[in-house]
Amino acid sequence: MKRQEIKEILQSEAIGSTIKVSGWVRTKRESKNVNFINLNDGTVLSNLQVVAEVENFDEKILKKINTGAALTVVGELVESGGQQRVELVAKEIEVVGEADPDKYPLQPKRHSLEFLREIAHLRFRTNTFSAIARVRHAMIFAVHKFFTEKGFFNIHTPIITASDCEGAGEMFQVTTLDMNNPPRTEDGKIDYSQDFFGKITSLTVSGQLEGELAALALSKIYTFGPTFRAENSNTSRHLAEFWMIEPEMAFYDLNDNMDLAEEFLKYLINYALDNCQEDLLFLSQRQQQEEKNKPQQERSMELIEKLKFVVENDFVRLTYTEAIDILQKSKPAQKGQFQYPVEGFGTDLQSEHERFLVEKHFKRPVILIDYPANIKAFYMKVNPDGKTVAAMDVLFPQIGEIIGGSQREERLEILVEKMKAMGIPLEEMDWYLDTRRYGSVPHSGFGLGFERLITFVTGMGNIRDVIPFARTPKNCEF
Ligand code: 4AD
Ligand code: MG
Repeated sequence: MKRQEIKEILQSEAIGSTIKVSGWVRTKRESKNVNFINLNDGTVLSNLQVVAEVENFDEKILKKINTGAALTVVGELVESGGQQRVELVAKEIEVVGEADPDKYPLQPKRHSLEFLREIAHLRFRTNTFSAIARVRHAMIFAVHKFFTEKGFFNIHTPIITASDCEGAGEMFQVTTLDMNNPPRTEDGKIDYSQDFFGKITSLTVSGQLEGELAALALSKIYTFGPTFRAENSNTSRHLAEFWMIEPEMAFYDLNDNMDLAEEFLKYLINYALDNCQEDLLFLSQRQQQEEKNKPQQERSMELIEKLKFVVENDFVRLTYTEAIDILQKSKPAQKGQFQYPVEGFGTDLQSEHERFLVEKHFKRPVILIDYPANIKAFYMKVNPDGKTVAAMDVLFPQIGEIIGGSQREERLEILVEKMKAMGIPLEEMDWYLDTRRYGSVPHSGFGLGFERLITFVTGMGNIRDVIPFARTPKNCEF
């Protein structure tokens, strides 16, 4: 008999039929004559209740049915008086994989998220983490669907690279040299000409530079790949390894770029609302449970309400200079409540400032544009004022920056000047400059941090809980 999945069984109309199901035991409740087993196979949040009449089964088998054990059950599907429409009356039970109830770390009770991070290899088996995994998958699919519908091409850009796109020097080096005894040049430095690639290489911080090369031929492309940042940020919003979606479009200016970013985010959130209802409802209840411990004014909007709010309202668009003005006049600035003071033009905005603008001042997502040139990457287009660049950051409640992007500097001379001033090695980047030498056109793009999106959509408080295995400073388990 073919195994059926619980997702399909729970919707089934085939009352009275004999079916076969496999999954893991979430809980077992024993009474004198019957055992009630909640079985989950991860295909949906809900469990299937299996009813085993004690007299029909060997005692030894029933003893092995514990939380965490894997079972295959053949039985009759009947109507249920309980929460689900249907339940399964077991005829045969096979214990496929046992789990010692005294040792299995996931007891049928509420565990803290911190504890579950330590057993991330098992946390997929909880409602919370299986729900997140399913929402994450839905969002991956929606990303490809959105861009495919719009005629974009997906480009795979390299993971190992010799260039630092963001110029922040936060790269993980990739080498096969023996670090205990590396080859040396005459002046005593490590001789990277003898390294695997014959030069210093690292894991990429962004696929943008290569994405630009493709966009200047295919018009509209996007990348969706892993990116790596060796920034020592121990926050609830930073990972050392995260996934980024980077569209790049020829003949798009900053306004076109903003329109696309807003449409994209709304599309993804709508997709989740339409396709992940059961999981979102569960995650909403989880969040509300957690928020009960917070003071009233710090509680966030109910998850689904919050997602609908973002989809239904226009994002605010304003310049960095306007934002600085608002921040300087704000109550927290007057009262000295910001941890980082807002000094005026040139101040790099911190998450507390971004969140003030979004959560307190405008009460909706904000796109900030035209940042000072010296706090942004080399590739951004210099505005006519000479001191700002055509950058855009999309700021979200709770998250802060969810998207960073810009119109690119397409003028060769200006770009070369900027690269020199910012200490970008021109020889290494000659291939990039060729796009400005031959058929250069205005173009724009942005990067969406995938885990920041998932943090927002699931209402989780920490980015480490929305990627299966988080990599953060001093933490690389599993
Ligand atoms: O603003 P960033 O650094 O922009 C770029 O990398 C550009 N090359 C994108 C482009 O224009 N094609 O990063 C983009 C986004 C951020 O807005 C944030 O959502 C996410 O990537 N991000 C991180 N997410 C998790 N952990 C980190 N350490 C992150 N750093 C950036
Ligand atoms: Mg950024």
